[in-house]
Parts: sequence; structure tokens; C-alpha cells
Amino acid sequence: MSTLTFNTARASADPAKSKTRCAIVAVFGNELSATAEALDSAGTLRAALKLGDFKGKPGETQLLPGIGNADRVMLLGCGERAKFNPAVARETVQGLSTALNACSTTEALLHAADLLNDDVEGAWLLELVARTVTVGSYRYTRTLSKPKDPLALKKLAVNPGKGLSSQQAQAALDQGAALGRGINYTRELGNLPGNICTPTYLASEARKLSRGNSKVRTQVLEEKKMRELGMGSLLSVSAGSDEPAKLIVIEYRGGKSGSAPQVLVGKGITFDSGGISIKPGAKMDEMKYDMCGAASVLGTLQAVIDMALPLNVTGIIAAAENMPSGRATKPGDVVKSMSGTTIEILNTDAEGRLVLCDALTFARRLKPAAVIDIATLTGACVVALGSHASAVYANNDALAEQLLQAGTVTHDRGWRMPLWEDYRKQLNSNFADLANIGGPEGGSITAACFLAAFAEGYPWAHLDIAGSAWNSAPKGATGRPVAMLTRYLQDRAAG
Ligand code: BES
Ligand code: MN
Ligand code: ZN
Repeated sequence: MSTLTFNTARASADPAKSKTRCAIVAVFGNELSATAEALDSAGTLRAALKLGDFKGKPGETQLLPGIGNADRVMLLGCGERAKFNPAVARETVQGLSTALNACSTTEALLHAADLLNDDVEGAWLLELVARTVTVGSYRYTRTLSKPKDPLALKKLAVNPGKGLSSQQAQAALDQGAALGRGINYTRELGNLPGNICTPTYLASEARKLSRGNSKVRTQVLEEKKMRELGMGSLLSVSAGSDEPAKLIVIEYRGGKSGSAPQVLVGKGITFDSGGISIKPGAKMDEMKYDMCGAASVLGTLQAVIDMALPLNVTGIIAAAENMPSGRATKPGDVVKSMSGTTIEILNTDAEGRLVLCDALTFARRLKPAAVIDIATLTGACVVALGSHASAVYANNDALAEQLLQAGTVTHDRGWRMPLWEDYRKQLNSNFADLANIGGPEGGSITAACFLAAFAEGYPWAHLDIAGSAWNSAPKGATGRPVAMLTRYLQDRAAG
């Protein structure tokens, strides 16, 4: 995959003397930044601005022939100087990433000091740059016979100015790049078709994370073991499929031994046909993305391992394929979960909660500091929040706040939703302790209430990412909410 590296350029370097194939300098509207001025002894940049083709809007770029020791100069529009804030910075950096993708330079030097102000902090900006450029470099090629052109850029140097030590700057770049790679890994897994990315495939990917790393241990529980543990709910989902379910447990021990782990639980339905309650044909292909929760667990763990965070984190993936067959679970069937709670399966298409409830019961054994499950759980969530926010549910206000905050900082945002008893009542059944659906109203909420019944006794949050995990046009996995989760864990590691 990406062999892109980021490094810190010396803060004192004179921009005119810095040797680079592409010097990237900020322009605020029609105003050159200090670095652009310093580079412009011959007045070529000023002359270019005077032509009026380049407006200096956020993310707008223009390539010009070189000045001094730079082979090229890239003007990077940042909008009005007084209005430059984190949101504009994101737009600007996104434009930079797009321009670098279109450019054939293998190396570039970004003068970042001009982009910093009271609102836009150095480490945050550098992390954003490394993350955005890394994410921008991703190409899906796995099942294409003709590979797409890769990004030409191999190395981006960043001059952070005087605010950060070069060590701090490099740490921010490294963390951003690690996050970007984690996001890309999650996207890749999400984009893989269901005939490649099976529960068995997810298990082999999880094993890769622990290969050669003594701090990581992967265990895969097979169906036989799950039956012994009483996971009748999870097993009811894989009953109709020829692909065996897997319960995958990945333990990263970066923190003190004995300190309670942060636990991430991912929905890993590698294809959701709906089962006997079969889905309509239109867009059914998109149900290969129904393992994006699991993919976000793997991507987040990869980033955490890459960053070597001093924290204990355990990932649990409930992986299964939901298919109809003569052995498939039928509407009306009653199953018993690992917790002992019986469930009337009124709709076999509400399968995510059925695999997750047993994983949540299993999670209790780990004596977790907190458990966060991540799932493409309901179409109702897409109706409620669209694709911009992940739904955040929690039985603990502090945990909800930490996740929302992490989402705001990384612009991978969540929105809190209720878990009221009034909604839970919609899950009452005449034939079991709980029904697996709660009727047409508040579908994302009743699904969350179902999970809450299995997450008692520890701080728990649930992220419904049905809207945020992928785009329909052009189709592709987004890698969300890896940024939110990774930032949440970085914050926990910082204490
Ligand atoms: N994987 C789907 C949820 C989904 C639907 C995600 C569309 C993204 C886009 C989930 O397993 C499902 O089928 N949920 C049902 C629940 C219903 C039967 C109560 C749904 O949302 O329709
Ligand atoms: Mn379903
Ligand atoms: Zn599903």
C-alpha cells in the first residue's frame, strides 16, 4: 500500500534556500503569506496573483514554475486570513491532498507556519495534514485487472515554524499518518467483496495484527466453542450460511499489566442478505459493507499498535454471514443468548444485534474500563441522521461526552441519541424475554435499547454507523469512525 513518508523540515530554513521539487506556500485571498513573500524576491507570485485567475479560496491551488531552490511552487489558497479556523483548515488541507494527487512531484515541502493562529494549533494541523494526504492516497485496486495510477508523491516534508519542537512536529506527523493508514485499512476491508471478505478472512486479518508483535494476541473462537459458551443468538445468524461464524478477540497490551482494557466490539456481517426475511434486490450489493464496524475495530487497532499507545485495548469481532437456506433461522424462532436472555426473532434481517448481544456478554469477562460497539446496525439511522453523524448511544454520560469530543476534534462526528425505557418497551414479546425488532418507529433507538439490555454493569457506548461508514455515490467505504475511536483512545492514553 502507501509508502508515503512525512518528515519535519528545519524550522529556521530560509524558504528561498530550501531545496525541494515543490514548495507549498499559503495564500490568504489575494494576500501572500509571510513565507510566500520571502520566496517572492522576483515578484513572480505577486504577478501571478495580479492576473486574478487564482482567488486564494480555501483549498484552491495553483502550480507555478520554480523559484530559488524549488522546482515548482504550489500556491495553496486558505481564504481570508481573519477567517482561517479549523473548518477552513480542513478544506484547505483537503484541497492540498487533491492537488498532490494530480501532481507528478515525488517530493514536496509544505510551509505550515503560516497556517497557524490562535484557533489552529500546530500539532493538530500537522496530524491533519499527514492523515488527509495519506487517506487521499488510497486507491482500491484489489479486484481490478488494470491498477490505477498510484500517487506520485513519496515524501512530504513539513516546516512547522517555531511553535513546535521538531520532535513534537514529527510525533504529530507520525500519529496523523498512522491514523490515515488505519482509516485506509478499514476502507479496504469494507470495499472488499463478500466472496473474499468472509468471517474466515476477517479472522486471518486479525491474526496478521499480532504476527511478530509480542504485545498483541489474537484468538479466534470457532462455532463449536461458541456453542459451548451458549452463544445461541450469534449462532442463529450464521445458521443459514456455509461460511462458519467467528468470534475474533485481539488483545493489545500497550498499557500496565492488569489495567482494565478499553474494549471495541465490531459488527462483522460480511454479507447481509436479510436471511429468510430477505432484503429487496436493489442495492443489496451494499450489504457487503455490513462488516464496517468490524473493519473499524481492525483499523483502529492497527493505528493504536502503530502509535504504540500506552494503553490496553481489546477488539472483539462478531463475524458471520446472514443467508437464507433450509437451515436458516426463521421468523418466530426463539433463541437463547449467552446471558440467558431469550430472544424471539421476528425478523431475521435484524441480525446485527443478535451477533452483538453475545459479544457484549462475552466482553464482561474482560473486566473492561469501557466497551464501545460499532455497527452498521439500522437503515433507520440513515433516515434519522443521514451520513454526516454516527449515532452515539451510551449508558454512561462521561463516555458519551468523550466520544462526542473525539469526534468533534477529528471531524468524525457523532450525535447523542436516547435510550429511554419508553423505547425499550417496544421490544416486549409474548414468547421470549425480548423481541429482536421494535416496530417501525425509532428503529435505530430500539436496536440500541436491545443492545443496552446486554451491556449492564460496565460503561458502554454504541455507535450506529449505518450512514457514516460508506458512500453510495461513488460507492466506497469511508473508514469512519476510526478517527473518532483512535482519538478517544489517544486521549485515554494521555490520562
Ligand atoms: N445491515 C442492516 C442495516 C443497514 C441497512 C445498514 C441499510 C445500512 C443501510 C441491518 O442488518 C438491517 O437489515 N436492519 C434492518 C432492521 C429492521 C429489520 C428492524 C433495517 O434497518 O431495515
Ligand atoms: Mn440485516
Ligand atoms: Zn445487517
